[in-house]
Amino acid sequence: MVKTAVFASGNGSNFENIVAKLKEGSASGFEVSLLIADKENAYVLERAKNHNIESLFINPKLYSSKKEFEEKIIEELERRDIDFIILAGYMRIISDVLLNKYDRKIINIHPAYLPEFPGKDGIGDAFNAKVDKTGVTIHYVDSGIDTGEIIYQERIDIDKSWDKERLEKEVHKVEHRIYPKVLTNLFRGEEK
Ligand code: GRF
Repeated sequence: MVKTAVFASGNGSNFENIVAKLKEGSASGFEVSLLIADKENAYVLERAKNHNIESLFINPKLYSSKKEFEEKIIEELERRDIDFIILAGYMRIISDVLLNKYDRKIINIHPAYLPEFPGKDGIGDAFNAKVDKTGVTIHYVDSGIDTGEIIYQERIDIDKSWDKERLEKEVHKVEHRIYPKVLTNLFRGEEK
C-alpha cells in the first residue's frame, strides 16, 4: 500500500473527496496518511480532523528559505515513510529540494486544460478569456509552473449561460470524478 501525503492550502474539497472514495472503496492502492497545509486557517485542516487523518500546519514564515522549509517537510514525510505526494490546491511552487527527493512522485491537479491557462487562477482565466471549452489536467510536478508531464486530462465544454461560479462547480465536479480514479490507476501500475 502506497503511503501518500496530500498538500493543500485552502478549502480541500479534493482532499476530502479522495479520502471519501478511499473509505468507500471506489479508490484503492494507496492511503492518505498525512495532510500538510501551509496556511493556518486552511479549511482543509478541519476536514482532516473530521476524517481522523493526521495533519500538520507547517508555517513557511518560520523558515529563512524555501530550502529550509522544504527540508522540514521532508523530515516530516520521512518520519512517516511517505512515498508519494498528492498536491490538491497547494498554492506554492515546489523547489528542487523536494523534487529531487520525490522524483516523479509528486502529482498535481490543475483546473484547466494545460498548457492552456497555467498559474494561480486557471478557472478565472479561462472564464475571462471567454473560450468555449476548458478542462482539468493531472500532471507530474516539475520545477515550472504547471509544466510537468501530463498524466490525464479531460475537456469541459463551457455553456454560454454559465457564470464563473457555475464554471467552478463544473470544474470541481470533473476534478472529483477523475483525481481518485487517476491515482488508483497510477498506484496499480497503469500509468496511462
Ligand atoms: C482545485 O481547483 C485544483 O485544481 C486547484 O486548486 C483547487 C483546489 O480546490 N489546484 P480544493 O481546495 O480541493 O477545493
